[in-house]
Amino acid sequence: MADNAKLQVAGKDVEFPVRSGTIGPDVIDIRKLYAQTGNFTYDPGFTSTASCDSALTYIDGDEGVLLHRGYPIGQLAEESSFMEVAYLLLNGELPSGEELDKFTGTITRHTMLHEQLAGFYRGFRRDAHPMAVMCGVVGALSAFYHDSTDITDPHQRMVASHRLIAKMPTIAAMAYKYSVGQPFIYPKNDLSYTGNFLRMTFGVPAEEYEVNPVVEKALDRIFILHADHEQNASTSTVRLAGSSGANPFACIAAGIACLWGPAHGGANEAALNMLREIGTPDRIPEYIARAKNKDDPFRLMGFGHRVYKNYDPRATVMQKTVREVFDSLGVNDPVFETALQLEEIALNDDYFREKKLFPNVDFYSGVILSAIGFPTTMFTALFALARTVGWVAQWNEMISDPEQKIGRPRQLYTGPTQRDYLPVGKR
Ligand code: SDX
Repeated sequence: MADNAKLQVAGKDVEFPVRSGTIGPDVIDIRKLYAQTGNFTYDPGFTSTASCDSALTYIDGDEGVLLHRGYPIGQLAEESSFMEVAYLLLNGELPSGEELDKFTGTITRHTMLHEQLAGFYRGFRRDAHPMAVMCGVVGALSAFYHDSTDITDPHQRMVASHRLIAKMPTIAAMAYKYSVGQPFIYPKNDLSYTGNFLRMTFGVPAEEYEVNPVVEKALDRIFILHADHEQNASTSTVRLAGSSGANPFACIAAGIACLWGPAHGGANEAALNMLREIGTPDRIPEYIARAKNKDDPFRLMGFGHRVYKNYDPRATVMQKTVREVFDSLGVNDPVFETALQLEEIALNDDYFREKKLFPNVDFYSGVILSAIGFPTTMFTALFALARTVGWVAQWNEMISDPEQKIGRPRQLYTGPTQRDYLPVGKR
C-alpha cells in the first residue's frame, strides 16, 4: 500500500489514500476532496482520471500492451476465437471445451430477431447510415425483450447479455441487406458466430452460400481485436448510462451512438476514405503536410491514440492479417500499399514521432473489410458488433460493483453571476 497523497489547498493540508491495482498506475482516491476542501478536480477528457475498478482489460500505452483478463491480445488473436474471448471477458477465465460449447450454443439460439423488428427497418430510408439503423434498432430491443430488462435480477442480466451478443450480427447484417435492397437472411444454427454473420450479410435466398474459411478466420480475428478496450469513450458511455439504472439495450444503444464519432469507432470508415482520397503514394506528402498544419483541421485518420503512445498492438496484428487475406484470396488493393507507405513516412517524420502518433486499430481494418466486400459505411457497424461483447462485460462488472453509484461529474462554472430578470421593454 503506497503512502497517502498529501495536498495543500485552500490553506488546508489534506491527505488522500493511494490505492494500487494488480499492475499499472496507482490511483489517488479523491472521493472526499470536495467535502474536505470545497474544491473539485478539473480533468476535461478524463486523461488523468480512473472512473472505476475493473478486472477486464489492461492497457500499457507506453509498452503497447493489451491484456484481456491477463491474456495478451496477440496470443488471443492467434490462438483463440471471438466466442472464446467473449466467454473470457464475461466470466474471467478461459472456458473448458464443454463450457465453450454450452456458451456458443446459448448464443447461437439467441441469434434470431423478433419478427416485428424486420418492419422497424422499413421505416428507414434505404440510404440511412447503418450506424443510424443500429442506434435505432438496438434501442428498440427493450420494447421487444422486456423480460430481460430488470437489472436487479442476475438471470435477466445474463439473458440480456446473451441476447445482445447474439443479435448484433443479425441486426448489422439486416442493416446491410436493407441498404442494398436484398431480402433479410435468417441465421443458420449450424454455422459459427462469424460464419453465420457472413452468410446473413452476403448470402442470398437464390443460392447456397459457402463460408470462406480464410475470410471467416480473418473476420473472427478482427472481432477479437475490437472486443474490449478499457474505459474508452463508448464504454464509459455505456457505464454512465447503466449507472442510472437504464436497461441494457438502452445502454448499448448509447454506446453505439458514441462509437459512431470519427474520433472513435468512426475512424475506420474515415481512414479508408482518407486512403482512397490520397489514392497513390506520390500524394502522401501533401496529406502529411495538412496533418501537421495547425490551421488545417485535417488529421490522419487511423493515427494517434489517447492511451497508446508507442504502437497499438492491434494495428500490428491487423497489418499481418491484411497480408494473409490478400495472399490467400489472391486479391490486392493499391490502397494497402498507400497505407504501408503512409505509415512508413509518418513514423519517420519528427511531428508524428514527437507527438507519439502511430497507426491504431482503425488504420488497417478498413483495407481488410473492403477486400472482404463490406462497404465503408458498414465498418463502424462491425466495430459495434464486436465491441458489444466488451460493453456488455463492462456493464455487468459495473452493475455488480457494490461501490457503483450514478455517475454525476461537476464543472468549473464560467457563466454570469446571479442577476435579475429584466422585462423585454427594459432591455
Ligand atoms: C479508437 O480510447 C480507445 O481505446 C479508443 C479505441 C477503442 O478500441 O475503443 O482504441 C478506438 O477510437 C482509436 C482512435 C481512432 N481515432 C482516429 O484514428 C482519429 C484520428 N486520431 C485523433 O483524432 C486522436 O489521435 C485521438 C482522438 C485518437 C486521440 O486524441 P488525444 O489523445 O485527445 O490527443 P490530442 O487530440 O490531444 O492530440 C495531441 C496532439 C495534438 O497536437 P497539439 O495540439 O498538441 O499540437 O497530436 C495531434 C493533435 O493535433 N494529433 C494528430 C492526430 N492525432 C492527434 N495530428 C494529426 N493526425 C492525427 N491523427
